[in-house]
Amino acid sequence: MAKPKRRYVCADCGSVSSRWQGQCADCGQWNTLSEEAPETTFSARHDLSGGGRRLAFEPLDAPAEVLTRRSTGLEEFDRALGGGIVPGSAILMGGEPGIGKSTLLLQAAAAVARSGAEAVYVSGEEATGQVRMRARRLGLSDSPLKLAAATSVRDILTTLHAGPQPALLIVDSIQTMHSDVIEGAPGTVSQVRASAFELIRYAKENGVALVLVGHVTKDGTIAGPRVLEHMVDVVMSFEGERSHQYRILRALKNRFGAVDEIGVFAMEGQGLAEVSNPSMLFLSGREQPVAGSSVFPALEGTRPVLIEVQALIVRLQSGATPRRAVVGWDSGRLAMLLAVLESRCGLNFSSAEVYLNVAGGYRLTDPAADLAVAAALVSALADKPLPLRSVWFGEVSLSGEIRPVAHSGLRLREAAKLGFDRGAGPEDAGKGVPALRYSGMATLPKLVDRIMGGE
Ligand code: TYD
Ligand code: MG
Repeated sequence: MAKPKRRYVCADCGSVSSRWQGQCADCGQWNTLSEEAPETTFSARHDLSGGGRRLAFEPLDAPAEVLTRRSTGLEEFDRALGGGIVPGSAILMGGEPGIGKSTLLLQAAAAVARSGAEAVYVSGEEATGQVRMRARRLGLSDSPLKLAAATSVRDILTTLHAGPQPALLIVDSIQTMHSDVIEGAPGTVSQVRASAFELIRYAKENGVALVLVGHVTKDGTIAGPRVLEHMVDVVMSFEGERSHQYRILRALKNRFGAVDEIGVFAMEGQGLAEVSNPSMLFLSGREQPVAGSSVFPALEGTRPVLIEVQALIVRLQSGATPRRAVVGWDSGRLAMLLAVLESRCGLNFSSAEVYLNVAGGYRLTDPAADLAVAAALVSALADKPLPLRSVWFGEVSLSGEIRPVAHSGLRLREAAKLGFDRGAGPEDAGKGVPALRYSGMATLPKLVDRIMGGE
């Protein structure tokens, strides 16, 4: 009899390889491959052309289905979901351990239960006593939420099938769930997939809104939610720096709505508090201009958010390799920007350590932030503070051009509303914003001249 083939599965992207490798050939992650039980293979080609149910085809112009959404009781959560939870939908809530996923979902589930709907919270990570203690701390003890500690998908589904069907089911976390239809320990890719598959099928068949919690670790040591992304309707990411108070809830994929609105929360002693006006949160509250600090006018969906970017440059005496450390921005993008500043503007960062930090634990992804970062770097290098109430935005190309970005007028108008009186960015972007003195710049050398000249 042929020996079953060995099978190695990447915990991050789920790709399968026949031999162990240090790096996944598909997604490039390191140390994410581990051996898993062989999947049942079909030896012969099955004939699927008979014995099935006949489908009834439908025309395209049938009356549109109206999506009824249910509020999570947290406006910021609803906003990030595109207006609330859709019954029968499967939501994946990803985020690093300790960021606040369980807290957020306990608050939401308790609110749904309080509103009169049936809500169930199944924890595979904590004993019910622990969850109850947390609920007490959050002031949720009076909510008729149904709580259970379980890891067996069969137990969970047996219980739920006995009724009544909940409107909302939270499973915390998918990595602790175990399905007995396949082999393998909880947390392996095949277990995570199989458990999610069964839970999602139950949710779809019964019109239950399902939230699966999925831990994401930077080193990919546990099966990441990426292997589930295509199975669910909505992928949410709960982000922030654990050492900071602010948390951002973002939809990465949403079959029922747009993905451009975020929810903003602050982690406090009594759980997550909603922040409905986040515009000034990510400013450090400085009173005096400081070299190396700039402000980027970001837009999160319909809301403006001003974000402080801080750069620190330390000249090295010895020939040691200088460090580059980044918090809240892409390190590859920083390397690119430094290279452009060196080759197009003649600045020298090669013997200096460069530290870049985005205030408040915010993560910048908008390419328009390039110019704010460049301004902070040049200001730090020249030791010249930028004007206190100025905002900087624009995309920087490899040739050193400052390129136009979306919503320039909106960014500037919102900054002006929040008391900023100067703006700098791509040429012509300041038209029609009279409340603010605008400097348009075509290239990075112009930016350097302006900052070096102390303008
Ligand atoms: P948790 O929801 O357990 O994170 P996750 O489920 O994503 O792993 O949150 C854990 C952190 O939140 C923990 O470090 C303590 C902090 N926290 C507060 O600061 N205030 C609170 O009221 C609660 C419940 C937790
Ligand atoms: Mg948790």
